[in-house]
Amino acid sequence: MPLKVGKGAAAPPFLVMDVIAAANARAAALPPGAPHVIRMEVGQPGTGAPAGAIAAVAAALRSGEPLGYTEALGRRSLRARIAAHYHDWYGLTVPEARVAVTVGASGGFPLAFLAAFDPGDRVALTAPFYPPYVNILTALGIQPVILEAGPDTRFQPSVAMLERLDPPPDGLIVASPCNPAGTMLHPEELAAIAAWCDAAGVRLISDEIYHGLNYDTPFASAASFSPHAVVVNSFSKYFSMTGWRIGWLLLPEDLIRPVECLAQNLFISAPHISQIAAEAAFDCHAELADNVARYRRSRAHLLHALPAAGFSRLSPAEGAFYLLADIADRSNDSVAFCARMLAETGIAATPGVDFDRARGNHFLRFSYCGPEADMREAAARLQRWQ
Ligand SMILES: Cc1ncc(COP(=O)(O)O)c(C=O)c1O
Repeated sequence: MPLKVGKGAAAPPFLVMDVIAAANARAAALPPGAPHVIRMEVGQPGTGAPAGAIAAVAAALRSGEPLGYTEALGRRSLRARIAAHYHDWYGLTVPEARVAVTVGASGGFPLAFLAAFDPGDRVALTAPFYPPYVNILTALGIQPVILEAGPDTRFQPSVAMLERLDPPPDGLIVASPCNPAGTMLHPEELAAIAAWCDAAGVRLISDEIYHGLNYDTPFASAASFSPHAVVVNSFSKYFSMTGWRIGWLLLPEDLIRPVECLAQNLFISAPHISQIAAEAAFDCHAELADNVARYRRSRAHLLHALPAAGFSRLSPAEGAFYLLADIADRSNDSVAFCARMLAETGIAATPGVDFDRARGNHFLRFSYCGPEADMREAAARLQRWQ
C-alpha cells in the first residue's frame, strides 16, 4: 500500500535552481576558448566572507574552543552586536533580548510564521515575490493572499492596496529592497504601511536582507515604525556570507519566547562557528563597502546599456542587485526566452515565472552581483544579440 506523503512535500521547485543547473551544464560542455557563461541568474555575492570574519574563525579554531551548541537564540555577544547594529545604522535602541540568531533569513521565516500565525490564517504579500515566502506559508497551512503590484507602485505594496482587502489579512510580508525587482519602500511608505498594520491588527513581517545594498534611495527598518513588526535579516547579502547560513530576527516582545521554544526544538542553535564569523563581520564595513561600490558601477553600466540591447522596460534599480525586465515586447514565454538567451549568448538569467505565477511569463530577472567585467561583457553580448 502506498504510504502517505504530506502536503509539505508538494512545495513547488525554485525554478532558478533549474537555470543554475542548465548554466552549469553549458559551462561544463564549452569547448576550450569558447566565450564563458556569464552568471546573471545567481542572487549571491561572488565574494567570500570578509577577511575579519575568516580571521575570527581561524582564531576560534586554533584556540580549541569546543564550539558546542549555543543558546537557541544565539551567542549573547552576537545578539548584543546585532542590537548595536540597529543603533549604528538606524539610530534605534533595541534590547539584545529581541534578537534571535537564525540559520539564514531562510531559517527565520518558519520561526516567524509559526510564532505569529495559525494554519488557515491569511498573509498578504505582493507579486512578484521571493518564492519561498509563498512556499513556506503554504507548507505551514497558511494562506498567501497575493496582491499584484506593478511599476506604478515600483512593484511594492501600498496602503491603498491593503485597504482594499476585506477582511484584512492576519499578516503582511514586505521586502525592501526586494527580490526580484530591486525596488524599495521609501521610509515614509514603510512608515504608513506599518501604521496601517498596527491599526488593523495585522502582523508585519519585514524582510530587510538587502539592507546596505541601496544606491540613491535611503532605507529604513520596520522596527523604527512598529514595536509589533518582525524584522528578518541575514549575513548572506551585504555581509557576503551565503554559505555560512546565518541570519537573524528582530522580534517584538510577545514573540521572543515562542520563537525561542520553536528554535530549541527545530534546530537547537545556528552553527556556532558561523556565529563567530558573523560577529566579526560587523567590523568589516570598509571591505564590504568595496563590494557595494562594485555593484553600483555594474548597475550604472547595465542601466545605460540594457535599454540599447532591447531591454528598455526595467524596474527602478533602487537596491539589492537585481533588475526586473519586462520583455512583453520580445516574448510571452520567459522560460523559453531565458533558455534561448543562454544558448545563443551564454548569459544565464532567471525567468519571471518563479516570482509571479500569473504574469512572470513576460519578465526576467538579471542579477548584477557577478564580476564587474562579466557585467560589461554581458551588456556587450546582449547588444549584439538583440
Ligand atoms: C528576499 C530574500 N529573502 C531571503 C533570502 C534567503 O537568504 P538566506 O537564507 O541566505 O539568508 C533571499 C535569498 O536570496 C532573498 O532574496
